[in-house]
Amino acid sequence: MAVDSFPAKARKISTNIGAHYVDNARKLPWRSPPGGDLPDPYHVWLSEIMLQQTTVGAVKSYFEKFTDRWPTVQDLATAEEADVLAAWAGLGYYARARNLHKCAVYVTEKLDGIFPQKESELLKLPGVGAYTAAAIAAIAFGERAVVVDANIERLVARLFVIDTPLPKGKADIRRAMDAITPRRGAGDFAQACMDMGATICTSKNPKCDICPVQKQCAAHAAGNMEYYPVKPPKKAKPVRRARFFWIEQQGKILLSTRPSKGMLAGMRGLPDDGWAAGNDGHMKPPIAGEWLVHDNIVQHSFTHFSLEVDLAVYQEQKIVTNKDDNIWWALDDIAEAGLPTLFVKAVKWKLKEEK
Ligand code: ADE
Repeated sequence: MAVDSFPAKARKISTNIGAHYVDNARKLPWRSPPGGDLPDPYHVWLSEIMLQQTTVGAVKSYFEKFTDRWPTVQDLATAEEADVLAAWAGLGYYARARNLHKCAVYVTEKLDGIFPQKESELLKLPGVGAYTAAAIAAIAFGERAVVVDANIERLVARLFVIDTPLPKGKADIRRAMDAITPRRGAGDFAQACMDMGATICTSKNPKCDICPVQKQCAAHAAGNMEYYPVKPPKKAKPVRRARFFWIEQQGKILLSTRPSKGMLAGMRGLPDDGWAAGNDGHMKPPIAGEWLVHDNIVQHSFTHFSLEVDLAVYQEQKIVTNKDDNIWWALDDIAEAGLPTLFVKAVKWKLKEEK
């Protein structure tokens, strides 16, 4: 649809969404109030990296934990990568945490601790893609950048009944967002659209009765809001199998640091059998002896595959010696180990099973 042929509609949408935000903006720890001073670029960058593929509700406590512990980008740059990964544990998509640390080091060492202001410069930073560069440029620096995340995609696809299936439809959605983005206050506007997508223009049961752009919404007029955005058919995910190994003595379990490449790279975890995105594990235990295997105790969904996990529990009493990448970790302090959710699920299963 030719969005440019509706300048009056675009202006009305822009004005109504902006006005609605003044009274309805969500108060979030990385935000400035509508129309207020521009927020700290470090806070905006950190929050936008955390918010990729993760909900606002899940991010809030992590954002506060990170900014308490590392109040500036320089503080984050001097942290050990392993500490950043452990603090990130539970947020998922751990490549984001490694890039976060890499980016903090880059900004500190190469840019004197000052984030670039332009979308085109921000794009060059590690871990900063098209969406994040636009969001930081608009929110932290007031550039008129066109910001499109999943919430905005839904809102805009409905307003303009864009029915080209994603991801092809993204180009039309971006053009429509460009048409409604105001010259000033692009950051507030983007966040206003995000809030509308999260609270009003929801995937299921959108609250059109309280929507400030109900009259401008073509999908509402047609009564088929939930049809948009049109998604491609879902592919079935392959299922991989893994085995984790539980070796416990004197109130401690053996953990290992995962290799620096591959799934959950560099994170601590239970010893396992080498499962990966492309293959099942080999099931062989790391040490000889008797093992009791519990089948399929945990299922976990990654982006491109699902994992079904067996837990093998070491039955011998003999003392196991340590290897370089192994750590004996007190079970009482397991919450401090920074384990990814997949391993937390297995540990919880084992501790519950013993009760
Ligand atoms: N999702 C991504 N960025 C966001 C922001 N700044 N506010 C609310 N939700 C978001």
